[in-house]
Amino acid sequence: MPVTLKLATSLDGRIATASGQSRWITGERSRQAVHSLRAQHDAVLVGAETALADDPELTVRLPGYAGPQPARVVLDSRQRLPDGCGLVASARQVPTYVVATTKPAARLLEAGVRVLRAPAVGEDRPELKVVVQALAAEGLHRLFVEGGGQVAASFLRCGLVDAVEWFRAPIVIGGEGRPAVGALAVSGLADAPHFRRTEVRELGEDLWERYERI
Ligand SMILES: NC(=O)c1ccc[n+]([C@@H]2O[C@H](COP(=O)([O-])OP(=O)(O)OC[C@H]3O[C@@H](n4cnc5c(N)ncnc54)[C@H](OP(=O)(O)O)[C@@H]3O)[C@@H](O)[C@H]2O)c1
Repeated sequence: MPVTLKLATSLDGRIATASGQSRWITGERSRQAVHSLRAQHDAVLVGAETALADDPELTVRLPGYAGPQPARVVLDSRQRLPDGCGLVASARQVPTYVVATTKPAARLLEAGVRVLRAPAVGEDRPELKVVVQALAAEGLHRLFVEGGGQVAASFLRCGLVDAVEWFRAPIVIGGEGRPAVGALAVSGLADAPHFRRTEVRELGEDLWERYERI
């Protein structure tokens, strides 16, 4: 199952300020490109912190677009997504999955959210290889991972990232900002995930770099 990781960062690889502000680091043209990429995937996946902080729609919003919407997937072990958030409120219009390690919450099921229960590993989080298989069983094969940093790190740590789409804006946020990729436990450079750049494009002030796994 091909997994693509999207990163939309500052020059110094930050995805939000320390207070969590992330809208908008990259420019309009980068955001349009992200919408086009969503349209090429079966599902868009984020972590619970991103869903809670940003209340994102995770839909394809392009002028004239009439194709299918990718499913939305939230890694939310404890089912913290509130009833009032956009993802839950629109779950009957766009397929919406919560991946949890706990018993499916009735309030989410009643709202039309599909709760996939996955076994917990360290830190009581679902095992990503199992999650990817469970999504494939739902017909969701092409997965677009949109962060945040903890989720990006988990996918990279498991060796599950086949391609990276990196949108980089010409601002510097600094070390207090949230990193695009959280801790990876890399001890030597040889252990670091390696990628080959396949394309670079200018999108206004931003750069769009595309990578595939070596
Ligand atoms: N610039 C951008 O384009 C962009 C994109 C996305 C996010 N952001 C920003 O990034 C920030 C959130 O990022 P974040 O790193 O703090 O959190 P995150 O990666 O969005 O979410 C992390 C949470 O996901 C849940 N989770 C479940 N399974 C996991 C697994 N296997 N690996 C990792 N997490 C798992 C955990 O919560 P449970 O234990 O409760 O399950 C964990 O606390 C927000 O400020 C958001 O605005 C920016």
